[in-house]
Amino acid sequence: MEEFAEKAGFFRTRLTAWHAANPRPLPWKDEPDPYFIWLSEVILQQTRVDQGWAYYERFRRDFPTVQDLAAASEDQVLKAWQGLGYYTRARNLHRAAGIIAGQYGGRFPRSYPEILALPGIGPYSAAAIASFAFGLPYAVLDGNVFRVLSRFLGLDTPIDSSEGKKQFQEISAYFLDKERPGAYNQAIMDFGATCCTPRRPACAGCPLMTECRALAEDKVDQYPVKSKKIERRTRYFNYLVVRFGDQVLIRQRLGKDIWQRLYEFPMVESESLPETADALFGWPWFEGRKPAPDAVSLPFSQALTHQTIVAVFWEWRLPGEPKGIIAPVQAVNRKNLSNFAFPKIIDLFLENKSLNLFSNHQNQD
Ligand code: ADE
Repeated sequence: MEEFAEKAGFFRTRLTAWHAANPRPLPWKDEPDPYFIWLSEVILQQTRVDQGWAYYERFRRDFPTVQDLAAASEDQVLKAWQGLGYYTRARNLHRAAGIIAGQYGGRFPRSYPEILALPGIGPYSAAAIASFAFGLPYAVLDGNVFRVLSRFLGLDTPIDSSEGKKQFQEISAYFLDKERPGAYNQAIMDFGATCCTPRRPACAGCPLMTECRALAEDKVDQYPVKSKKIERRTRYFNYLVVRFGDQVLIRQRLGKDIWQRLYEFPMVESESLPETADALFGWPWFEGRKPAPDAVSLPFSQALTHQTIVAVFWEWRLPGEPKGIIAPVQAVNRKNLSNFAFPKIIDLFLENKSLNLFSNHQNQD
């Protein structure tokens, strides 16, 4: 690492001076309470700052202490999380709140290993929390940091290789300002998010430009280097929107698949988009009949990390309450749908009913 000593000194000094001169007003900046710091870091794990901001404030308001969060039901927490995606974060947040309230008597754990051991906390969030809340010398390393460091040093080891991970871990730890780890970590996060961005970075105003290897080589857009693309498989979800009067059928997702414990309409997965509803009638409320659907939506799609979900909503209006509504399927009043946490793709459908391919009863909506 000694070969980087001079570069690291320059990097630290310039970066922290840049940050002091370009403060980003964020509601969790200078927050001393580790509980709120933790909340913000979990929200920001896979969410952009502008989207996470309102959720952070909502969680602070709805669950002002870790005891309040621990005492809430999982459904309440999922509901407050609705729209943020990656719901495992919300379930882990709730579990971790239980651990902090129980095992730690409500006092947030103060060492890096204890923080890292909490559900839903990886090395990045543990380093962020440990440095912001307790001034501990742990460097954050995520996509932003990979990008900033690989550009600055012109490092082309693939960041998705084990060698690359190890190398960048060592370099990020070495570059950290051990005197002010919190300020340094916040500076590198904000620098990656606002200046050294993935596309069209603001090199002209960059505090590191005189020493940036990628800029000198005119290769800024070629870093960081990755060895493989992520593969996404496509899955087709056919949702059955079964209505009678003001009621509609929904169910909770109880399996090990995506969107655990969120709600949805009864669903049949298929290998491709079906042309007809024939494959969708195996539910007791159809009583062996095959009524034509009253409406079919255009396909909606949602990209997750490893899969793309394509969803079509098939809608039936039944004349009365059907037989065979068995848990976890339940009938709810359509007006109460907003009490349930749905995956984003269902929210999109509920917000945008005009995307129906055909509908025999459009005026009744
Ligand atoms: N992303 C993750 N943590 C963050 C923080 N503290 N500030 C800005 N962006 C972040």
